[in-house]
Amino acid sequence: MLALLVQPACEGLQVTGFHEHGAIATASPIASEIGRQILEQGGNAFDVAVAVGFALAVVHPEAGNLGGGGFAVVRDGATGEITALDFREKAPLAATPAMFLDSTGEVIEKLSTHGVLAAGVPGSVAGLHALWERFGTMPWADLVTIAAHLADTGFVVDAYLSQSLEEHKRDLMLDTTTREIFLPNGVAPKSGDEFRQTDLAGSLYALAAEGPEAFYEGVIADQIVATMAEHGGLITKEDLAAYSVEWREPVHVTFDSLDIYSMPPSSSGGVLVGQILKLLEPFDLSPYTAGDAKYIHLFCEAARLAYADRAEHFGDPAWWDVPEHGLLDDRYLMQRRQQIDPDHANNSNNITAGHPQVFESNQTTHYSICDARGNMVAVTTTLNAAYGCMVTVDGAGFLLNNEMDDFAIKPGFPNRYGLVGSEANQIEPGKRMLSSMSPTLVLKRDKPVMVLGSPGGSKIVTTVAQAIIAFSRFGLSPEEIVSQPRFHHQWLPDELVLEKGGFDVGTMQALIRLGHQIKEDKPFGDLQMIYIQPSGLMSGASDPRGGGMPSGL
Ligand code: DON
Repeated sequence: MLALLVQPACEGLQVTGFHEHGAIATASPIASEIGRQILEQGGNAFDVAVAVGFALAVVHPEAGNLGGGGFAVVRDGATGEITALDFREKAPLAATPAMFLDSTGEVIEKLSTHGVLAAGVPGSVAGLHALWERFGTMPWADLVTIAAHLADTGFVVDAYLSQSLEEHKRDLMLDTTTREIFLPNGVAPKSGDEFRQTDLAGSLYALAAEGPEAFYEGVIADQIVATMAEHGGLITKEDLAAYSVEWREPVHVTFDSLDIYSMPPSSSGGVLVGQILKLLEPFDLSPYTAGDAKYIHLFCEAARLAYADRAEHFGDPAWWDVPEHGLLDDRYLMQRRQQIDPDHANNSNNITAGHPQVFESNQTTHYSICDARGNMVAVTTTLNAAYGCMVTVDGAGFLLNNEMDDFAIKPGFPNRYGLVGSEANQIEPGKRMLSSMSPTLVLKRDKPVMVLGSPGGSKIVTTVAQAIIAFSRFGLSPEEIVSQPRFHHQWLPDELVLEKGGFDVGTMQALIRLGHQIKEDKPFGDLQMIYIQPSGLMSGASDPRGGGMPSGL
């Protein structure tokens, strides 16, 4: 049994027992409890996802959102069909490739991360509605009203939220509306305080009554455009009316005897998780443990290759031909695998993106839900950074994202996660910015096994891939999987990131001897997963690094 890396951020169990009717893992105990109540009322996993999604916008404002976007990978228990939903934000129609550069071509500091220009056209409301429309069974208004009440009557702030608001206080002060809502009297609410969000409640009541039209064409659209006018932003009513989600074919790879389904572009997540797993599949990991230097080394060499491909080949598929199949092609990966030396780290300067075309015929929060009907829902949604661009829509009470920073704002210029990109991911009007989000379903012979995903920016991919390998190769329990110390490599910068306190000196020395440049960093990721036993019983597990808690029925 691995030691827990960190003390749980909230009181209570991080893992549920086994449930018959359904299980939920989210970043908030309140949201998970709401999900349990929906199951109790006879709702399915999709009804739970909608209620939980809106509830997170109230109780987990750093990442739960109305003003952001995300991705879902879902399985319809009735047919076994697995599909992916892209509700990523889009660049406003007035956006231009050089909008974050000054007249000399230099990047203007913070313009793509702070303030209204950082915001893409939000997709979350359309996304949750699309999920509900296709798979939901309970009335939309009922599911949304729960969150509206929560915002209206208030909830008790926990230690996690209080600390998060305190940590981001300086940035939250920048916008008057944001400050008034989240720092009443200039102070972050304390654990145990009641927290009400009247404007947000108004928006949620409007959404409950009128559906997404309220957001994309009605009263909320007007409020967004007024906020843009006040602060010099680009989003117009035309942008909002033109927003649409995309149903996509999920990325599918097999790993060991498991079928992995994850998010295709406009996220790089699914393909990168797939590449890392497939690159590692032939290696015998049985002599190692999940924290062994030799395994960490092999994993990071695979990740280095995958992220080099990310920088070159990935962008919104509506604008850029992502060679998705080529990047996961066995022959291509066999060729790439030859660059992995089991005894020595590569130098990222010697690694470039591959040429898969040769074989061609492409602060966040995650919640995982499943039910006894075989429905599986993995949703990752975000404002990008915690609290997004820090600007709250006046009168509507929700924060806007700063997702524009996920574009390559200048070729080779790293975004806030250190990721670099190319023409494939340059800003174009109406284009979706590249993501790393990786909501993922794992099945074995058509039977559900795992639902999982995590925040963590560029580290989402490695967090998800490590969880799948920990399950398949190292036999770790759900509690061990969410708790295991994490490591990360993303090609550039050429450094192997280890969670501080998670690895002993001997392991670090062994990695240095293998040629890695080690960097210790604070804990990352907030994995929310469900494990489904072969008997069909379901158990949720929430990462002890976050404030979440699973639930079930
Ligand atoms: O889409 C992406 O890849 C990023 N905007 C995700 C941001 C994120 O995970 C922040 N949380 N730590």
